[in-house]
Amino acid sequence: MKVIVTGGLGFIGSHTVVELQNKGYEVVIVDNCSNSSKEVLKGIEKITGIAPVFEEFDLREKVKVQEFFERHQDASGLIHFAASKAVGESVKEPLLYYENNIGTLVYLLQELKKKESANFIFSSSCTVYGQADELPITENAPIKPAESPYGNTKQIGEEIIRDTCKVNPQIKAIALRYFNPIGAHPSVEIGELPLGVPANLVPFITQTGIGLREQLSVFGNDYPTPDGTAVRDYIHVVDLAKAHVIALERLIKQNNKDNYEVFNIGTGTGSSVLEVIRSFESVSGKKLNYKIVAKRSGDVTAAYADTSKANNDLGWKSQSTLDEALASAWEWEQKVRG
Ligand code: WQD
Repeated sequence: MKVIVTGGLGFIGSHTVVELQNKGYEVVIVDNCSNSSKEVLKGIEKITGIAPVFEEFDLREKVKVQEFFERHQDASGLIHFAASKAVGESVKEPLLYYENNIGTLVYLLQELKKKESANFIFSSSCTVYGQADELPITENAPIKPAESPYGNTKQIGEEIIRDTCKVNPQIKAIALRYFNPIGAHPSVEIGELPLGVPANLVPFITQTGIGLREQLSVFGNDYPTPDGTAVRDYIHVVDLAKAHVIALERLIKQNNKDNYEVFNIGTGTGSSVLEVIRSFESVSGKKLNYKIVAKRSGDVTAAYADTSKANNDLGWKSQSTLDEALASAWEWEQKVRG
């Protein structure tokens, strides 16, 4: 069975391609390489022994999208990762985010609409919840006004898919709301490759640990949390990748309860920034150089998942601990920069 993966050279996309190939799927990657490298193809092949088919083009080019789907009418599923995802950048360049994240989604759904049946997995984010009123966060938690254009594109994206599925029963879709993906494949052949200065905590920690960054700034220690630093749900990227394959198979086997479903994908455990630092120090044996600075605007105090829906309905549960995920991130950092 053939599966199309947009953004398949990216951090979560590449790990998902590996898990798809491990389950025997033929994978076709579409990526414009704007935030990823073709070198990732070699890493995937080293792990699975199979070189994914790769087509480089920009999903903003509607004709190219149409021609691509013409060539791959036999695909049984589409997993859509390709999107811009830098929260700060989205505030400065909202139109880039609306064009790229929304425009391309519409083009893809227009192609799925033409098929007799389509299975679609959408990369969404816990950012749609904003600061949830109750923790852990369930899928029924209210969607709050987005804190950034990036977050808004995820909210709008989900609404577009929901409205499309309502009148196109031949399209079955699942939105996976990721919490905080971290870590790298245990083979150390693929991992996170942030361009420039990392916005996210864990790559900044590992780059500080390896000496690429002087010091980690901890954004605030006066949150109403046990140690004052903000709390997140850090999930190993391989656990997250496996969730995509399980979700796709739910649709292929028609085990879905509705033709648009949403699942939180996290560990169900919250960890503070200081806890992540302590965990990194313990798995790396390194003392991390950090300082407390002012809060980052737009950050929520705490976000961690109620994973019972994914556990019970999807039959998926995260396996890795925070230590294991950080150890894999550190292994990868040492290989890439060491
Ligand atoms: C985690 C915690 C920071 C960097 C974002 C997006 C989300 C998803 C994941 C794409 C926060 C603190 C961070 C640093 C710090 N992205 N921090 N110093 O903001 O929870 O989520 O990335 O899908 O949609 O919103 O992740 O890793 O940036 O921050 O203290 O240098 O670490 O304040 O509490 P975040 P993050």
